[in-house]
Amino acid sequence: MLPGIAVAQSSEGGAMSQEFMVMAIFSVLILMVIVLIAVIVSLMSLKKVIREVARQTTGEEEGVEEAPGWWTKFNKKLWNWTSVEEERDILLDHNYDGIRELDNHLPPWWTYLFYVTIAFGVVYLLVFHVFKTQPLQIEAYNMEVAEAAKAAEARQAAQAEEGKGFDELSMQFSDDPEVLAGGENIFKMQCAACHQPDGGGLIGPNLTDKYWIHGGSMADIYRTIKVGVPDKGMISWESVLSPTKIRDVASYILTLQGTTPANPKEPQGTLYEGDATGKE
Ligand code: HEC
Repeated sequence: MLPGIAVAQSSEGGAMSQEFMVMAIFSVLILMVIVLIAVIVSLMSLKKVIREVARQTTGEEEGVEEAPGWWTKFNKKLWNWTSVEEERDILLDHNYDGIRELDNHLPPWWTYLFYVTIAFGVVYLLVFHVFKTQPLQIEAYNMEVAEAAKAAEARQAAQAEEGKGFDELSMQFSDDPEVLAGGENIFKMQCAACHQPDGGGLIGPNLTDKYWIHGGSMADIYRTIKVGVPDKGMISWESVLSPTKIRDVASYILTLQGTTPANPKEPQGTLYEGDATGKE
């Protein structure tokens, strides 16, 4: 139910911190359980030592039959097995070619678990269907989708705002170091998996040669990155990268022209004669 609570309580922008809070509380709880176990284990070994010392000081004989410990008792309660001596009492009458059957009952831990699921079912029914304090899965899903749609809308609006005065058709290469550094960062993070960090190509084509499948002008490259080539495995980056970011990474790609990557892929596409980095 915790994710549900997180969704229900998170308002605009609060989702992250909410998730973080839940994670933090969980981590602390887990830590506390670990510490508790460590304390119990050390107390138990301490008890053993104390008993041993007591035995030595009182001169009690060793090998005295100890009363069963709490774990043995607990285990016995969990399983409530029939001891071998008593098996005769639960033997059934059937005899299948010498194979006899014991009428064992279900182990108590199993029945307890069953009761727990009944209790859980009641709580679940009350929470989700009677009092409706938590959204059902489909509602939670719809809420999340609506939230994501709102966020996407806001992002698109922000990008449209940023894209104003941005003419994609006469897109120019920029040698501004800040632009290229930003572009390099994006390339290493998002594109290197398919194009190699040095642009030599892997799943995607070599970006360091003068051959381009989709055109080698700045506007062409910008458009390829923006709309992608979905059926060839190059996604549209429009929804991920803002226009400026696409400009940055396109500019960075052009700085790779003429470099010699470690494992270059053979050229693909047609030769682009112009120099896209020159101010055309
Ligand atoms: C999942 C793999 C993958 C990722 C990630 C990827 N690409 Fe591509 N990319 C491709 C493939 C495959 C092609 C070739 C498409 C085709 O054959 O038409 C391609 C083509 C291109 C082209 C056109 C090359 C040409 O010859 O015309 C450019 C430019 C490009 N990618 C840039 C990028 C940039 C920038 C990024 C990161 C923002 C990126 N790619 C991320 C797979 C990828």
